[in-house]
Amino acid sequence: MRLLVFAATTSRESINRQLLDYAVQLLADDVEVEMIDLNDYEMPIYSIDREQEGGIPDAAQDFFDRIGAADAVLISFAEHNGFYTVAYKNVFDWASRIDMRVYQDKPVVLFSTSIGPGGGANVLKTAVTSGQFFGYDVKASLSIPSFHERFDTESGALRDPELDRQFRAALASFDETAGVAA
Ligand SMILES: Cc1cc2nc3c(=O)[nH]c(=O)nc-3n(C[C@H](O)[C@H](O)[C@H](O)COP(=O)(O)O)c2cc1C
Repeated sequence: MRLLVFAATTSRESINRQLLDYAVQLLADDVEVEMIDLNDYEMPIYSIDREQEGGIPDAAQDFFDRIGAADAVLISFAEHNGFYTVAYKNVFDWASRIDMRVYQDKPVVLFSTSIGPGGGANVLKTAVTSGQFFGYDVKASLSIPSFHERFDTESGALRDPELDRQFRAALASFDETAGVAA
């Protein structure tokens, strides 16, 4: 099974990326993980004028194609002012001009985390509730509040046992036949 993984942020020390690094460790050995970095998908801010003048940027096509080549997608969202980061929204908007069903009917597991008690729950709710429009089937979702209290950066693992149980259950909710173990 090919799993596309990314943090929906461009922070160099991203806490969402740290969470995904932990998730990847929990996956079965036969899961082929492709982790992409949204810093590699920088492109002009979407506008209909730029699209008409220059077409779809190669980076947006690459993002779309990588989703198409995957069997499933794992994303962890950072929340900026209650919504997607600009970096994610931009690549998502460009990709939606290729096909509004950006995720091409793939199963997804969605996480979010933030440094505060909200845990990125607002952006996660937006992502979960819009899957039907953008072509993804949400198998599970989980928000991790107050990241630094709940994640041990030295061991790179969740230190809260109940959240850790929910996190593993979310990963296990990918179709069992797809070979994701947690
Ligand atoms: C412009 C900006 C807006 C933010 N807005 C929110 C917010 O709405 N909710 C929240 O929980 N954290 C917010 N934060 C704090 C983020 O949780 C924090 O920056 C976190 O590290 C982002 O995840 P990342 O490290 O994976 O990029 C904001 C941070 C920035 C820089």
